[in-house]
Formats: sequence, C-alpha cells, structure tokens
Amino acid sequence: MRFADATTADFPSFENKPLNPNLCEPRKVNFQFDNIPKLWLNNNSALTHFFNAMNLFLPAFEGFMVRAMKNQLPCIKNTELELPIRGFIKQEATHGQTHQKYNKILEDQSYKFKTALKIADFLFIEVLEKYLSPKMCLALIAGFENMTTIMSYIVLKSNMLVTAHPTMRSLWQWHSVEEIEHSGLAFKFLIHVDNRYWMRVLGGLLGTVMVVGGIIIGMVLLIIQDQSLTSKKTFNDLIKFLFTEYKFIPLTLKNLIPYFQVNFSPQSENLYQYAEKVFLNI
Ligand SMILES: [Fe+2]
Ligand SMILES: [Fe+2]
Repeated sequence: MRFADATTADFPSFENKPLNPNLCEPRKVNFQFDNIPKLWLNNNSALTHFFNAMNLFLPAFEGFMVRAMKNQLPCIKNTELELPIRGFIKQEATHGQTHQKYNKILEDQSYKFKTALKIADFLFIEVLEKYLSPKMCLALIAGFENMTTIMSYIVLKSNMLVTAHPTMRSLWQWHSVEEIEHSGLAFKFLIHVDNRYWMRVLGGLLGTVMVVGGIIIGMVLLIIQDQSLTSKKTFNDLIKFLFTEYKFIPLTLKNLIPYFQVNFSPQSENLYQYAEKVFLNI
C-alpha cells in the first residue's frame, strides 16, 4: 500500500541541510503526526513495530545520553572535537523530543506502555546514572551509538521505508541521517577521555544488549496488543526482516564485530553516501 504524500517542498518534515560532520548542527523539524495508521509500513506488523519499539524507548536512551555527555563536556580539551560533540548533543535532544511526540500518537492508538517507559527511566536515572562512573556512561553511549549507526545504515541502504507513510518515512530518514552524521563521535569522545580497551568493550557489550533488549521488549509489547503475535503473516514478515529479505541479524553481526577489535576506528566516511542520498529525494 502506498500513502498519499503529506509533505511538500515548502513544508517538509525536516530541513534539507547537507551533511556536515564537523558541526553536526541539528536540523529544524516539522513533523505533523496526523492520521498515522496503526500499521504504517506496508501493513507489516513486524516492520512497523520494529520502528515503533525503538520509538518507545528512544526518549529514555537519548535523555540519558544528553545528560551524561553534557556532564563530561568540560573534559574535552580539543575544540575540533568539542564543536561537533555540542551539535551531537543538540541532535539527540531533538530526536528525543520528537519521538516523545510520536509516543503520544501510539498512546492515542490505544497501545499501553507507560509502565515499560517508567522502568526504562528508572533504570537510566536511578541505576545507571547513580552507580556507573561518568566514563563508563560514555563507554555505554559509544556502545549505543555503534548500534544506532549500524541500524541507520541498514535502514537507509535497504530502502525498507520506501512504502511507509510519508511522515513516518521522513521521521526515520531524518533520524538515520543525523545518526550517520554524528556516527563515531561518541567513540572519539570516549577515547579522548579514557582509551582503556576493557572499558570500551564493556560499554559496547552492555550498550548492544540494552539496545537489542529494548527493541525485543518493545516489539513483543506492541505486537501482542495488535493480537498479531501468533499470526502466520507476522511470523513470515519477521523472518524476512531478520534473515532473508533485509538480513537484519547477519548484517548487524557483521558490522558489530569490528567494534570489539583492539585497533577499531569508526569508518563514518563510508556511510555518508547513504545519508546524502536522502536529501536528493526530498
Ligand atoms: Fe538519535
Ligand atoms: Fe545518535
């Protein structure tokens, strides 16, 4: 199913501003989440709820990242790094606010998830921020960001949003573009402050488990409420997404493993082409 295009060149959902990884300035946004159907991606429950599951927890993840990175800003002794990191923090703040707005739409669509979000906020604010050292928080953020970069690359390269509702396509294109624009920065921030290998590995492992865990919990929560958990179509769509058509699991594993090598260095430049392509089509 194709949806009528809700945006125009004069009134786009996000600002058409070319990539500039040296600044990472946030783009202006204008998302109008009116009349979004429950299954907004090709009537596909598995794919729609993959994105919706991320949407649920992104305000909690991104709020944590903003607070923890702001806290560590005085440790940056290099203006070449400080400038894009400040932009990166602003981008994540805008992402969190925008996904918060869409969570209200999910609530209006009768999904129940407030308890899950309260648990997530408790985990970040009362546990991780209180008991992890500021450096370990940065290592965790570098792990989250490694995952969001990989997922943004898969989403943009695969064109999996092509048949999505236009506003939702724009939402995830915009977020993926900015994730690629600021990719590698959290890693550079961590290495600048503390370059011990074990810390990066521990943050990478914990960050990966938390991102994957959040997506699985969110998907199960939403798919159960759609009563499509046991449907054959959902099962087939899930297999296509994870293994056969979009190959989400093998591609994630392939791109995740290098992060744990001793001499890892982010190769963001190789990804810019996928983000730049988005601006040619809006
Ligand atoms: Fe983000
Ligand atoms: Fe990010």
